[in-house]
Amino acid sequence: MVDVIHDPAAMRDRVRRSRVAGRRVGFVPTMGALHAGHASLVDRAAAECDDVVVSIFVNPAQFAPHEDFNRYPRTLAADCHLLETHRATWVYAPEVAAVYPPDDATTVTVAGPAAGFEGTIRPGHFTGVATVVCKLLLAVPADVAYFGAKDWQQTLVVKRMVRDLGLPVTIAVCPTVRDADGLALSSRNAYLSVAERQRAVALAEALALAATMWDAGAAVAAIETAMRAALDHRGLAVDYAAVVDAESLGPIVEAAPAVALVAGRLGTTRLIDNRELPPRGGGRRAC
Ligand code: PAF
Repeated sequence: MVDVIHDPAAMRDRVRRSRVAGRRVGFVPTMGALHAGHASLVDRAAAECDDVVVSIFVNPAQFAPHEDFNRYPRTLAADCHLLETHRATWVYAPEVAAVYPPDDATTVTVAGPAAGFEGTIRPGHFTGVATVVCKLLLAVPADVAYFGAKDWQQTLVVKRMVRDLGLPVTIAVCPTVRDADGLALSSRNAYLSVAERQRAVALAEALALAATMWDAGAAVAAIETAMRAALDHRGLAVDYAAVVDAESLGPIVEAAPAVALVAGRLGTTRLIDNRELPPRGGGRRAC
């Protein structure tokens, strides 16, 4: 049985003792409702580390009042069951009051990569993410923390926060896990009706189209128009469809990696996805 720890001080103590004993500790932060995408992060952590902590915490600070905090799936027992078949050492499942004491007055706000895209559509979201990830890393002072590439902008925000605050952890970004038709695994896929699930493939279709057009040398504007059309064709309400520099999320830089980003809504469910695009011209970003 995986050991579930609720208290931040107890969690920190376990991790510290493990590291003092010379063990390498990996950390997979999640909001629960675990699926094969999370499992792949745990597997990677287990392959690289001696002990693995998985946090399960539905973070109220990263949801706006009109968003899905209340209906977000909470499946702790099933999550622990799944983790038993992977090599997680501890589950860290703090209470909200342990993370956010009633008189809490401190947040972490990251500029730069938090601007635009999710940062525009969901104001305050990345402050909620950065604040909780910072607090989780204080309770779980691991060697490496593992994040999924599906939330591309989130990985940039977390990496920037870790760099700027000098947090002593390495951030590892792991590939997106997909269903057979290409839909990226997400806990929010559970909200989709059968008909919506079929239409959700539009995100992967738009990204595949972007990759093909990118490789053929198409202009960014033409690719973005084609991605929007692909999403629209399946009835998604498009929040954005863009090709940008993979690190700055600004205009593409010649010979640097790019990323195609898509976000759209199917009924009341909002889905995001992305695909990395190789540098054009085969070059490397200037240092
Ligand atoms: O990606 C998520 O599941 C969440 O944003 C995270 C990183 C666990 C913070 O709540």
